[in-house]
Amino acid sequence: MSRNVIDVTDLSVEEISGLIATAEDIIANPAKYQDLCAHKQLATLFFEPSTRTRLSFESAMLSLGGSVLGFSEAASSSAAKGETVGDTVHTVSCYADIIAMRHPKEGAPYAAAQFSEVPIINAGDGGHNHPTQTLTDLLTIHREKGRLSNFTIGFCGDLKFGRTVHSLVNALGRCENIRYVLISPQELKLPRYVKEEALKKRGIPYTQTTSLDAVIPELDVLYMTRVQRERFFNEEDYLRLKDSYILTPEKLLNAKPDLSILHPLPRVNEIAVAVDKDPRAAYWKQVKNGKFIRMALILKLLDISAA
Ligand code: CP
Repeated sequence: MSRNVIDVTDLSVEEISGLIATAEDIIANPAKYQDLCAHKQLATLFFEPSTRTRLSFESAMLSLGGSVLGFSEAASSSAAKGETVGDTVHTVSCYADIIAMRHPKEGAPYAAAQFSEVPIINAGDGGHNHPTQTLTDLLTIHREKGRLSNFTIGFCGDLKFGRTVHSLVNALGRCENIRYVLISPQELKLPRYVKEEALKKRGIPYTQTTSLDAVIPELDVLYMTRVQRERFFNEEDYLRLKDSYILTPEKLLNAKPDLSILHPLPRVNEIAVAVDKDPRAAYWKQVKNGKFIRMALILKLLDISAA
């Protein structure tokens, strides 16, 4: 039976620590890892657009000495002829050793995994989850703060449709003494099911606000997100909400000197480009980290370790 990663809780806290340690070793000693996946193939099945996730998965496999195949839009696969996701994944699992899959429908990677003979990794399913972005975020926080405990994190923007937020809230809910500040317009609050499962059931307190300015001085980590245009039912609502929060150098004047600013990207307007020069901006480092943690995950799911 293959090991799949559909939800971040498919990995234990200890396994995530192990992945972070492997990623750190890959960063320090890349040559040790360069041939470990020779003759292995990764398939990237992207039914929805991506830059970072697909290309970092592909770069990860190539850097491990393996090769890649796949498609970057449903229109170039037989999904366009009406093939089911299950049949597509069953087919690809006959050609590849491991599959990373993104789909606009929530739950599609879970359903697909029932038809696969090889490990399936959820590379984002609709407005639901994005576990490998969460691994990227955890590696970044660990590198920036030196720990995955005892800090205050603000999630800001589209907390309703932002799948990266849902997965990260869930993952951090298993860590010690994290304080959550949820910053969003009323219409884009964190869904009740995420609050119930990730926070309330674990007895974790959180605060909700619509004002980033009011809470920015308290934060150790600020996780900015894009308003997810593709998940809105009408353009009018999107246009009204899209610029609810724009992080600028002026807004950061009241923030802690050691704040870490994360964003899963892509960004639209929510972080001014001028913030990129601020030493507290960690989102371009986050992009790099995405490749290393995915290398670590591929090795784990293929049960390959460095000598
Ligand atoms: N962070 C992220 O998922 O980016 P892409 O949509 O470009 O893959």
